[in-house]
Amino acid sequence: MAWHFLGTQDELLGEGKIKAITVENTPIALYRIDGQYFATNNICTHQTALLSEGFLEDGCIECPLHQGRFDVRTGKALCAPLKEDLQTYLVKADDEGVFIDIT
Ligand code: FES
Repeated sequence: MAWHFLGTQDELLGEGKIKAITVENTPIALYRIDGQYFATNNICTHQTALLSEGFLEDGCIECPLHQGRFDVRTGKALCAPLKEDLQTYLVKADDEGVFIDIT
C-alpha cells in the first residue's frame, strides 16, 4: 500500500464538490460527500469523458456526455449506456490530510 498525500482537508475540496487530480499518471476524480472522500478513475467506462465535469448527486456521478451514472462509493455502473463498472481507489483522511492509494 502506498499512500499519496493530496492536501489538507481544509484546502483540498469543498463539500459536494469534485476535483480532477492525477496521481502517477492515473486520472482520478476525487469527491467529497457528507464529509467523506471517495475516488474513482476520472474517465468514463463508456467513452472518453471526464467524470469530474459531471453532476454529483446522492453519491452518484452522472457522466456529462451521455448521462450514464456511477455510484462513486463502489464504482458500480447504474444505468445505460454503461456496461462496465468504474475503478475506485482507497482514500483516507485524518488530521494530517487526505491520502490516496492507487495500487
Ligand atoms: Fe460517459 Fe457515454 S461517455 S456515458
